[in-house]
Amino acid sequence: MRAIVIDPPDSLVWTEVPDPEPAAGEVIVQVTAAAVNRADLMQRQGHYPPPAGAPPYPGLECSGVISATGPGVTDHRVGERVCALLSGGGYAERVAVPAGQLLPVPQGLSVQESAALPEAACTVWSNVVDIARLRTGETLLVHGGASGIGTFAIQLGKALGARVVTTARAIKHDRLKALGADVTVDYSTEDFTEHRADVILDIMGAKYLARNVEALKPDGRIAIIGMQGGRKGELDLGALMAKRGSVSATTLRARPAADKARIVRAVRDRVWPLVDAGTIRPVIHTTLRMAEAMKAHRLMESSDHIGKILLLP
Ligand SMILES: NC(=O)c1ccc[n+]([C@@H]2O[C@H](COP(=O)([O-])OP(=O)(O)OC[C@H]3O[C@@H](n4cnc5c(N)ncnc54)[C@H](OP(=O)(O)O)[C@@H]3O)[C@@H](O)[C@H]2O)c1
Repeated sequence: MRAIVIDPPDSLVWTEVPDPEPAAGEVIVQVTAAAVNRADLMQRQGHYPPPAGAPPYPGLECSGVISATGPGVTDHRVGERVCALLSGGGYAERVAVPAGQLLPVPQGLSVQESAALPEAACTVWSNVVDIARLRTGETLLVHGGASGIGTFAIQLGKALGARVVTTARAIKHDRLKALGADVTVDYSTEDFTEHRADVILDIMGAKYLARNVEALKPDGRIAIIGMQGGRKGELDLGALMAKRGSVSATTLRARPAADKARIVRAVRDRVWPLVDAGTIRPVIHTTLRMAEAMKAHRLMESSDHIGKILLLP
């Protein structure tokens, strides 16, 4: 089969590689589409090696059709249309996936479109609901509302009955309001701390740590999932304690397989009905050929996109 191989120092090559074999509990997915994630850019640059046992090729989510099943897989069959959360390897014609990381293609979506959902759905659900316990009527602040993550978080927040405030450059505000955002803040000219939130989904890390604490309501929760603004910051514990606030920080890729399977089950039970009903839709900026993966990465680096970029093998 062909896959995208990282060619140091900084290029991506679509080339022949060995076919994956399904281990016990795994299936092989013939890939229809893979989605690009910010982490893939870091992996390309050598800053985010895949976890042990994961394929070396980039790609944290994909969709396609099951072409083989490994020993012990009883609840999936060859020919089934799926999308999947991956630990790597989505930029390929075929990928081995633990059965617990498969999701059905939601009603009303093509197999191709469904590739845009698993990583965002699992990341946003596990942080905003599982960890930060967002409740109806609360305010959710989504940083980077135009990102693949952000476009999903805005829609999930609204579907759960929250008021959603989001940060993005002004040029993207109309799209984010159309997705349901109640308030849009241009972080380059406005101060987001003028808006108080119960839950903050943060992708900026160090740069926003102090201001996130300032923007927190009493009993508020900050869920950090990105470090686009640096990894080491100063946390004013006095300010956090006065608000009875909490800060969490997680990465989905490094979670054990059983934990990923638990999150995927919760997403299938609680989020997929919202996608089936059309309440949450994938936001797809553009679709490119897999051989154009480098062009897709350059587009993501420019941040000119809104939502997801798909790659077709
Ligand atoms: N921990 C995890 O498990 C996990 C999983 C998935 C993703 N993530 C993280 O989530 C983030 C988004 O990932 P993605 O793949 O969806 O990326 P993406 O589509 O490339 O989005 C990145 C966004 O960052 C925004 N941005 C840049 N500077 C900003 C600032 N100062 N304030 C607010 N927003 C700013 C850009 O929007 P503008 O054009 O408006 O600047 C852009 O939309 C990344 O940091 C990624 O590493 C974490």
